[in-house]
Amino acid sequence: MELKDKLTAIAEKASSEIRVVSSLEELENLRVSYLGKKGEITQVLKGMKDLSAEERPVIGQLANQVRDQLTEQLAVTRQRIETEALNKRLAEETLDVTLPGSKPKKGQSHVITQIMEEIEDLFLGMGYQIIEGNEVEEDYYNFERVNLPQNHPARDMQDTFYITPEVLLRTHTSPLQARTLEQHDFSKGPLKMISPGKVYRRDTDDATHSHQFHQIEGMVIDKHITMADLKGTLETLAKKMFGENREIRLRPSYFPFTEPSVEVDVSCFKCGGSGCSVCKGTGWIEILGAGMTHPEVLKMSGVDPEIYGGFAFGLGPDRIAMLKYGVDDIRNFYLNDQRFLEQFKVKG
Ligand code: DAH
Repeated sequence: MELKDKLTAIAEKASSEIRVVSSLEELENLRVSYLGKKGEITQVLKGMKDLSAEERPVIGQLANQVRDQLTEQLAVTRQRIETEALNKRLAEETLDVTLPGSKPKKGQSHVITQIMEEIEDLFLGMGYQIIEGNEVEEDYYNFERVNLPQNHPARDMQDTFYITPEVLLRTHTSPLQARTLEQHDFSKGPLKMISPGKVYRRDTDDATHSHQFHQIEGMVIDKHITMADLKGTLETLAKKMFGENREIRLRPSYFPFTEPSVEVDVSCFKCGGSGCSVCKGTGWIEILGAGMTHPEVLKMSGVDPEIYGGFAFGLGPDRIAMLKYGVDDIRNFYLNDQRFLEQFKVKG
């Protein structure tokens, strides 16, 4: 075949192949196979040396034409493939801004936190200060300074996690009685405080016991504080937590840091006092322990019990939450199951 026809044939074949190419990779392969160093056109140009002097410029011109034409077609095709790829991506990544957004889920405080904050608000309103204590406490403050010396039998009820023989996870918030008392300057006014927080006991966990739970300690010390003040305060608390029509009653009890000591019951919020399953038929529900501060506790904190006296109380927000919402297993509060926790919305 004449070189001229050969060139024309190559040009047609190349052109039709380039037309149907769909990827940049295929396109590059075609470029190499026609225009590359060992490509078909290059081969033809190499054969020009055997041509006659008249033929050479004619074929040379045609070869250049074909090369330019293919180069141009390759460039155009490259453009087309790139544009197609871009359009495809744009179509896939289209954002429909008119679609409704997904609402962020609004969380809430844990039910125990909600109860504690409600109680804090009440006492803040009555002029109490809120004292934060440490969960890691000295044996000395946890026990001795609230009148539970070494070997006192009541320590057994509060067996706990010791870190060293002198340092432990506090078993109650009562050490804050001693810690606040020894800091307080009575020349500036009475001591009125509550102290909420976590406490620990080496209990075997069951429906009503957890090795970790919460307490709120309360204490008021001044001149001339009586048991009537204690009762009035706790009645206000009971009404706030369980409803305006509640009453309380005090039963004699024992705590080493109070004398006399009482167990405080609230009239049943479910049946109003006639007896039901919540109050186990008695009409009353035990909610906390309290009493008049023991003179020894005052003395050990450097406060003169001949001049000053007052009351203390300790309550369990876990128990209050269980009663208030009819939760029958304390462990539910600590499993972090959203389906359980999101049922409790005290405020809003
Ligand atoms: N600390 C006691 C306990 O954990 C609770 C308590 C009872 C605290 C009577 C008090 C109180 O302040 O007066 O069992």
